[in-house]
Amino acid sequence: MAMEALYGGALHRRVTIMDLAAAKKRGEKWVMLTSYEQMTAEIFDQAGIPVLLVGDSAGNNFLGFVNTIPVSVDELIPLTRAVVGASSSAMVIADLPFGSYESSPEQALATSTRFFKEAGAMGVKLEGAHIKTIEKLVASGIPVMGHVGLTPQALHQLGGYRVQGRSDGDVILAAALAIEKAGAFAVVLELIPAKLAAAITAALSIPTIGIGAGVNCDAQVLVWTDLVGITKNPPALAKAYRNLRGEIADAATEFAAEVKSGDFPGPSQTYI
Ligand code: KIV
Repeated sequence: MAMEALYGGALHRRVTIMDLAAAKKRGEKWVMLTSYEQMTAEIFDQAGIPVLLVGDSAGNNFLGFVNTIPVSVDELIPLTRAVVGASSSAMVIADLPFGSYESSPEQALATSTRFFKEAGAMGVKLEGAHIKTIEKLVASGIPVMGHVGLTPQALHQLGGYRVQGRSDGDVILAAALAIEKAGAFAVVLELIPAKLAAAITAALSIPTIGIGAGVNCDAQVLVWTDLVGITKNPPALAKAYRNLRGEIADAATEFAAEVKSGDFPGPSQTYI
């Protein structure tokens, strides 16, 4: 999706929550990608990706953890700062890590304030129906993206990465409606049946962003390492549009071979 389509014209400013609301009204689909550092932020921003999420999926895709649970605010702040600094058009959303917002609306506001002041984030995402917290953040001027269905920070409570809402779809619909009423500007729907996601998308006036939630969401999100085929064991809900894992391995192997053979460095990499 080109940036111009979302904007309705070339624009030298960041995407805002108003742009995303207008896209829903027009029935125009858009995408969000995760980004955890400078290079992908630059590339995705220039490619016209309107929203970049500094997800806590950095935990198992960048920081070497087994899942998202160990990720800390202090770890995500420099990543968010890098993504903000390397982009100029995308709206950059920071994920609130596990343990940094659940205690109280005040705790969530203090954490979000750090992401805004220290990293330049333009919104935050939080998992679950923390209604009072969302109200507090929105009243404080912080755009909030909700997240329902499979909420990976609740992995152990949910018993694994399992499809949610097969028998209790009404609970997820009610949560999404409450999140909208609390003032969120969008909501991620993760790993729920496509029919349920379509019903939630129709019921909400804010955009839904699907991941493993079928084609009828207003937007789609992918973890960038899944998108380009770097992830070792990608989830079934992801699609790899390239095989960069193979490309990178080939580049490293060729480099090693050329050093062994004496072909690298060559004349153009040699100073006289
Ligand atoms: O952290 C993340 O990458 C996410 C997306 C999957 C929505 O929460």
